[in-house]
Amino acid sequence: MKRAVVVLIVLVAVFAGLLSHQLGNIKAGSESAADTSDTGYEYYTGDDEKDEDSGVKKTKKKSPLIKVDTKEDSITVLVNREYRMSADYIPADLVVPNVRFSFYGTFEKSYVRKVTAGALEKLFAAAERDGVILKAVSGYRSYARQKEIYDRNVSSRGKSATDLVSAKPGSSEHQTGLTIDVSSEAVDCALEESFGDTSDGKWLAKNCHNYGFIIRYPKDKTKITGYSYEPWHIRYVGRSWRHIFTRRI
Ligand code: DAL
Ligand code: ZN
Repeated sequence: MKRAVVVLIVLVAVFAGLLSHQLGNIKAGSESAADTSDTGYEYYTGDDEKDEDSGVKKTKKKSPLIKVDTKEDSITVLVNREYRMSADYIPADLVVPNVRFSFYGTFEKSYVRKVTAGALEKLFAAAERDGVILKAVSGYRSYARQKEIYDRNVSSRGKSATDLVSAKPGSSEHQTGLTIDVSSEAVDCALEESFGDTSDGKWLAKNCHNYGFIIRYPKDKTKITGYSYEPWHIRYVGRSWRHIFTRRI
């Protein structure tokens, strides 16, 4: 009997220890800004964590944790100034999509990842059914190619102007193979803001989410994205996010 009581006490102690460890983990997870223990992911808490001490006592509001996908070959990988790709990352499944291009011949920029190609073909076919002829202008870019573009832009227009329109090597979504620049003859296939005012650009903005794409650098969102409006730059994120873009929020 005495032995049974001792065993019971030991079991209760072990269970309590495990429970407190688990609670500790949950607490740490909900309060730390960045937790890289889950390989390939970090946690982003948003900007509204600042303690604004206005004199009025109010409860500190915390935004929910958002899991940031930093896996380079993931469809939902986040690539920006903060989250960069390694110089040697090249997607393993690059293909040339069967769509109209703004140029003749096959170059590095003709390629995108297989999943992007399939979605792009559907997007362009749907556009054509609505009388909109889109042209693919620039898809995959290697780290080295992005460096050439960025450096050339810095020489011609200076660093601060460049940083608004061109990503530093490693921070361009074009390296993911999930992004492609799209334009039309309405603007001579140029990559310029006026494309967004054409019926082709408007069609793209309205419909691309149905095929898993987003306009990655929208108008008036420079403060968030860090880049000027780019109505031509579409990023494949998959269709499971569609509800976000179709719902009124
Ligand atoms: N123009 C976009 C920001 C890029 O260079 O990837
Ligand atoms: Zn682009």
